[in-house]
Amino acid sequence: MNSLTDRFNRPLHDLRISVTDRCNFRCVYCMPKEIFGANYPFLQRDEVLTFEEIERVARTFARGGVRKLRITGGEPLVRRNIEELVERLAAIPEIEDIAMTTNGSMLSPAKARALKDAGLNRITVSLDSLDDDVFKSMNDVNFPVARVLEAIDNAVAVGLEPVKIDTVVKRGLNDHTLIQLASHFRHTGVIPRFIEYMDVGSTNGWRMEDVVPAREIIDAISGEWAIAPAEPNYYGEVANRYKYLDGGGEFGLIASVTQPFCGTCTRARLSADGQLYTCLFGTHGTDFRALLRGGATDDVLYELLSGAWSKRADRYSELRSENTIYLRKVEMSRIGG
Ligand code: GTP
Ligand code: 5AD
Ligand code: SF4
Ligand code: SF4
Repeated sequence: MNSLTDRFNRPLHDLRISVTDRCNFRCVYCMPKEIFGANYPFLQRDEVLTFEEIERVARTFARGGVRKLRITGGEPLVRRNIEELVERLAAIPEIEDIAMTTNGSMLSPAKARALKDAGLNRITVSLDSLDDDVFKSMNDVNFPVARVLEAIDNAVAVGLEPVKIDTVVKRGLNDHTLIQLASHFRHTGVIPRFIEYMDVGSTNGWRMEDVVPAREIIDAISGEWAIAPAEPNYYGEVANRYKYLDGGGEFGLIASVTQPFCGTCTRARLSADGQLYTCLFGTHGTDFRALLRGGATDDVLYELLSGAWSKRADRYSELRSENTIYLRKVEMSRIGG
């Protein structure tokens, strides 16, 4: 069956599902402590979609063309028995790939095994630096590097591969530790991806000066090892891939600020409370939860999706300017990157 297409003829192909807006980290670029404190209005339990409801939304999206799912948060592993959701999603016939983005803090050997057995295909672990002091200053909860490295090993051990690493680069914080990180993962099959710090949400105090352009990172890495660009793995791949010419593997750059990729953006995002966002920088969502809980039929759910996707004209990263930075955009912790 054909995919739904939007106003710029972009097909719907991926759905990123946030299963919670909570996280046990307070990364400075995502959930700054001063804002996400004890009084922050996190979603209440009954506001969050159940696994059954998420499955129904995913089936609706599969009918609209989605073949690839990513489970995110907040931190998805704080949601109890998340493997039960994976199992439900893996049973949807159209779905070809299910991945998860996690901070790794709760990815024990048993959890990794349960996720794999439930049908998860691969995992991406966030890790901003291998320097303990730098990493702790970024996660802001004193979480040590060694335990994230264990999580990566646990994922590899059960074959949740390829394991990718998301490294957000913020100038003056971790940019001096990127070579160490790249070096560590050479010849391991684990793929680091350096992400330009973005103005997601409206609480992280983003400034253009804090962005390290991907070009600068590539130049630094190519000063250490011989590298060459590699072809994308699929249409609309977010990361630009590079290979080490000595066979050391590959790494990627996600340059959403300096080289926007909205033209090929096929991603929809579902927040934990059941709102569809058609852009990471969206200011409002389309309410699926109300319909789900109001007894809507499958066809009615599908109509809501096809209406929203056919109207979609988002291309925030291409339009980013002084004026857009201060919009009240949805928080990253609500839609998970
Ligand atoms: P693969 O399926 O492994 O290729 O995943 P991916 O390349 O889509 O990467 P992932 O889903 O892990 O996304 C990595 C990071 O890229 C996210 O956490 C975001 O920071 C950023 N990103 C992903 N999708 C988008 C997008 O549509 N727009 C923007 N601006 N950034 C994105
Ligand atoms: N800019 C870029 N990436 C971000 N992430 C979270 N906040 C930001 C931001 N402001 C990334 C984290 C995590 C993923 C879910 O999103 O690295 O891996
Ligand atoms: Fe939590 Fe990930 Fe946000 Fe860090 S980036 S605070 S680990 S959701
Ligand atoms: Fe897609 Fe919005 Fe990101 Fe552009 S800014 S690539 S439209 S999610």
